[in-house]
Amino acid sequence: MTTRDGRQAAASRSAAGHTLTVAVLAGGRSSEHDVSLSSGAAVRDGLRAGGHEVVWVEIGRDGAWRRDGDGEPLSTTPGAGLLGADVVFPVLHGRFGEDGTVQGMLEMLDVPYVGSGVAASALCMDKVLFKELMSAAGTIPQVAYADVREGRLSGAGRQRLLEQVMRLGLPVFVKPAHLGSSLGIVKVTRQDGLERAIESAFAHDTRVIVEAAASGVEVECGVLGSPRGEHGEQGAGALASTPGEIVFEGDFYDFEAKYETGGMELLVPARISDSAVQRVRELALEAFARAGCDGLARVDFFVDGEDVLLNELNTMPGFTPTSVYAKLLAASGVAYPQLVDRLCRLALEKHAALGAQVF
Ligand SMILES: Nc1ncnc2c1ncn2[C@@H]1O[C@H](COP(=O)(O)OP(=O)(O)O)[C@@H](O)[C@H]1O
Ligand SMILES: [Mg+2]
Repeated sequence: MTTRDGRQAAASRSAAGHTLTVAVLAGGRSSEHDVSLSSGAAVRDGLRAGGHEVVWVEIGRDGAWRRDGDGEPLSTTPGAGLLGADVVFPVLHGRFGEDGTVQGMLEMLDVPYVGSGVAASALCMDKVLFKELMSAAGTIPQVAYADVREGRLSGAGRQRLLEQVMRLGLPVFVKPAHLGSSLGIVKVTRQDGLERAIESAFAHDTRVIVEAAASGVEVECGVLGSPRGEHGEQGAGALASTPGEIVFEGDFYDFEAKYETGGMELLVPARISDSAVQRVRELALEAFARAGCDGLARVDFFVDGEDVLLNELNTMPGFTPTSVYAKLLAASGVAYPQLVDRLCRLALEKHAALGAQVF
């Protein structure tokens, strides 16, 4: 079968009701390996509940891909797809999974895959690049921040950098630019803790962001769909869920709050005004479209009264039925099996649309 015939066949399979063979990719090399295995198992079960065939491909911490998680590592051939699957569902979080690298490999295999493509995935994994793109729009409010590259803490630029960071006030949040799950994030409340926090962030990454502290509550919004709307409007083809509010004990929404049982509670709907809800949903769709995302995203905000600040956009959020993303979509009427099914159909539609282009 030629690639073009393959794309046409894929397009016909995108019709709802057609049973698909879906390769679920889970695990991976990042520190979110275990989270990904839980998310992947849930996606596998949801697809099976919807009548689809699942091929389980587990990516080890060593980076090898293994069918059913054991046996010989898989090898792949460019242009030849992956294990005969109609669609690949990369349920991977963090580096080498959510950052465009796996997406690039799947492009080379010429197989439809769920979620954002190479550029949007890479952009949204880089907290500085993402903020820069969002601020270029001029319409998306965010916290003030400073971009700190490796090397800027030494030499002549050091003083200038520290002055720039001090202008953000205190406290500040110091973060490695490419991590997730709150890993490596330090809240700095005293000026004398700043340099050490920046140095410790460099143990994780070559780029660090320092942010002014936002006030208010944390609110998250799930997006499902394609940004390619009929009228070319921002996010016109995508649905923004009812926003939910994250409630946690402690100073900020850290790793323990995210993953320990009882560490956080999701309130749906969020306890914010109707106009703030409206604003969150509009900004979620705008961020999704401006970043060039596809399929899904969870867009996170700080809301203080009528002030709504965009925090970040996750292109592959935690994905179990009890994860925030799935709960938000469920509250908006999209049950889990329907959600994973819809994402596979969107992947097939995108792949078919790309095949119709001349390049
Ligand atoms: N600028 C900020 N102001 C207030 N709280 C923040 C700020 N940045 C991060 N936090 C806290 O740290 C958490 C994790 O930060 P975030 O940027 O979302 O990183 P991650 O990608 O690891 O989730 C947030 O959910 C919030 O609780
Ligand atoms: Mg976050």
